[in-house]
Amino acid sequence: MLREETKLQPLFNFDELTPPPSMGNGLTGKDVISVSQFNKDKIDYVFARAREMREMVDRVGAVDLLKGFVLACLFYEPSTRTSSSFIAAMERLGGGIIPITQGVQFSSVSKGETLADTIRTLEQYADVIVMRHPELGAAQVAADYAGIPIINAGDGTGEHPTQALLDLFTIQEELGRIDGLKIAMVGDLRYGRTVHSLTRLLMQYDVSLRFVSPEILRLPLTLMNDVIDSGINVRETHDVADVIENADVLYVTRVQKERFTDLVQYEEVKDHYEITTEIMEKAKQKMIVMHPFPRVGEIHYNVDADPRAAYFRQTKNGMYIRMALLAAVLGRA
Ligand code: NCD
Repeated sequence: MLREETKLQPLFNFDELTPPPSMGNGLTGKDVISVSQFNKDKIDYVFARAREMREMVDRVGAVDLLKGFVLACLFYEPSTRTSSSFIAAMERLGGGIIPITQGVQFSSVSKGETLADTIRTLEQYADVIVMRHPELGAAQVAADYAGIPIINAGDGTGEHPTQALLDLFTIQEELGRIDGLKIAMVGDLRYGRTVHSLTRLLMQYDVSLRFVSPEILRLPLTLMNDVIDSGINVRETHDVADVIENADVLYVTRVQKERFTDLVQYEEVKDHYEITTEIMEKAKQKMIVMHPFPRVGEIHYNVDADPRAAYFRQTKNGMYIRMALLAAVLGRA
């Protein structure tokens, strides 16, 4: 009698979890430059995939979904979280990386190579490029030259779309919803690209926004006008005390020293806010404190032990969101 055939079972079967194909994604082969590319359907799709990635990582650590694909990480500005989480994301999906993250001074950029030539070179080796650059609009310029997808990991004071997606995902996972929440953003609202991208994403939801900053670091007027036009309940203040009691989310940011032309002005505002355990006593029991990091004094280390401090969980979510985005862009979703 023939023995029953034994089949090798895959360690992790994505088909068990994959959402119905009708959800689609529309991201395959596309650049990720701005959050304006993400409507609610796309956001829901990325979030669903990120949850699968989290479950996969918890269960087996890594899979071969992106085996044979290569990601080039091109960072013209410092990075810890964004670059490491993209690299970890690619590694956990079985892909390879070209890491130009420790300063482009070690690449031919220091010999005077143009962005166009660097991009056209990397696309000979890679299937997707993640790029951070100090100039607003640089990601779009790179995308115009590249025949492969460009993912914007921050373009000057412009946007940081993947950070905004992981921020929004964190709010959803921590508080179970987005609609109906009061979200306060604190710090450098003028230069902080994470604030710009998150604000634009939140404009699609039924939220109240509170912007807390020193006068010279207020949200840019064009963005503020868009927020007002969206019909969202919005207010500005200089004082955290005005928002702390009602906030469901306190999104704290660093003053972006590198964007100041006048360092005297930076010194004047850099220590404007510090979230302390005393301030947290006034906050709701069910709320979260977020920060895109790095922090340079805006949140006291004593706050880290507070369960409402969500910033390291937020950091971890970055890897799942970037796994979801890489899989989608590379057509393996
Ligand atoms: C942010 C950035 O680079 O815009 N960092 C990050 O990606 N998490 C925020 C910052 O540098 O302050």
